[in-house]
Amino acid sequence: MKECTVLVVGGAGYIGSHMVDVLLRGKFEVITLDNLSTGHRELHPGGLFIEGSLGDIGLLDDIFSSRRIDAVMHFAAYSLVAESVASPLKYYRNNLAASAELLEAMRRHNVKRFIFSSTAAVYGEPTQVPIAEDHPCDPTNPYGASKLAVERMLQDCDVAHGLKFISLRYFNAAGADESGQLGERHEPETHLIPLILKVAAGEREHINIFGTDYPTADGTCIRDYIHVSDLAQAHMLALDALLSDKDSAIYNLGNSRGYSVREVIDIARHITGHRIPAVESKPRPGDPAVLVADSAKIRNELGWQPKFENLENMIQSAWRWHQLDQVKGADATDKSA
Ligand code: UFG
Repeated sequence: MKECTVLVVGGAGYIGSHMVDVLLRGKFEVITLDNLSTGHRELHPGGLFIEGSLGDIGLLDDIFSSRRIDAVMHFAAYSLVAESVASPLKYYRNNLAASAELLEAMRRHNVKRFIFSSTAAVYGEPTQVPIAEDHPCDPTNPYGASKLAVERMLQDCDVAHGLKFISLRYFNAAGADESGQLGERHEPETHLIPLILKVAAGEREHINIFGTDYPTADGTCIRDYIHVSDLAQAHMLALDALLSDKDSAIYNLGNSRGYSVREVIDIARHITGHRIPAVESKPRPGDPAVLVADSAKIRNELGWQPKFENLENMIQSAWRWHQLDQVKGADATDKSA
C-alpha cells in the first residue's frame, strides 16, 4: 500500500489520541497538531507531535509544505454544551473560525480530504427518534450551532474547491482503549461517565442528576453512548472511503440504544461495587431530553460494525482506565515530592 500521511488536529485529546493510536497501528504516517489547551502531551501515542494552534497560519503553511499530506482529521474543538451557552463567542472562534483557517490552508496547499468530528448536538431537540441524518438540524446550543456551521462550510468548499469530506456526527463518546494506556481525562471534568467514576473512586462525594422532569420514562435525559474505539474504527472507514475517491458524506455514529442518566448510574454501581450517591439537581442549560442515533447509513454505506456496543463494556473500560490513571497520577506526585 502507498504510504499515507494523515494530519490529526487535536490528536492529544480523548478521541484524537485513540485515533492516532489506530492510525499508527494501521501503518499510517501521523502528524499531530495540538495546542494542549484540553489535550495531554503524555496521552499522545506517537508519530510526529507539533504543539500549536490552528490560528497560527505560518505554522499551518510550514506543516503543509513540509510533506505531502493525504488527509486531515479535525478533532480540535471545544465540546461542552453548558460552556457554549455561557461563552458562545469562544465556541464560534475556536470551532468555526479556526476550522476556516485550517480549510483555507488546505486549499492553499491543495489538500482535498477532510474528516470532521461533528456531533449529535447539530439536531437540537429531535422531533423523531432514532435520529437519521436527514432529520432537520436546529441546534439548541452554540456548540451544536458552531459544528453545523462547519458542516455547511465543508459543503460550500466541496462545491467551490472540490474538497471531499466526511462529517461524523458523534453521539456520546465513552469508554477507553483495551490497552488501558489511553482514556478520557478532561480538566475540569463535566461528562457524566467520568464524573460518576470519580465518585466511585472516592474523588467526589456524589453525582448530580441534571434534571428529573424531562419527558422520558424516569424523567432524566437519555443519551446514546458509543465506544471511543468504535468511533476510531469509523474514522478509518471514512479515511478509506476518501482515499478511494468516494464522494463527501455525513454520517451519524451511535448505537441506536438510549440510556437515561439514572440507568447509567445504576450500571456504574453494579460495575464498581460503589453505591455512588446521586443528588437530583436543576436541568443543565442547552441539554436536549433524548438523543439516540439511527446509524444505518454508515453501517450500510461504509460497513461500520461496532465491537463494543453495550454500555457495560464502555463503563468497564473507562473504570479500568480511571483506576490506572489514578495510580499514574499518584506515582507522578510521589516522584515530584
Ligand atoms: N449529566 C448529569 N450530571 C452530570 C453530568 C451530566 O446528569 O454531572 C447528564 C447531562 O445533563 C446529559 C447526560 O448526563 O443529559 C450526558 O451529559 P454529558 O455531559 O456526559 O454529555 P452531553 O450529552 O452533554 O454531550 C456529549 C458531548 C457533546 C456531544 C453530545 C452529543 O460532550 O460534545 O454528547 O450527544 F455533542
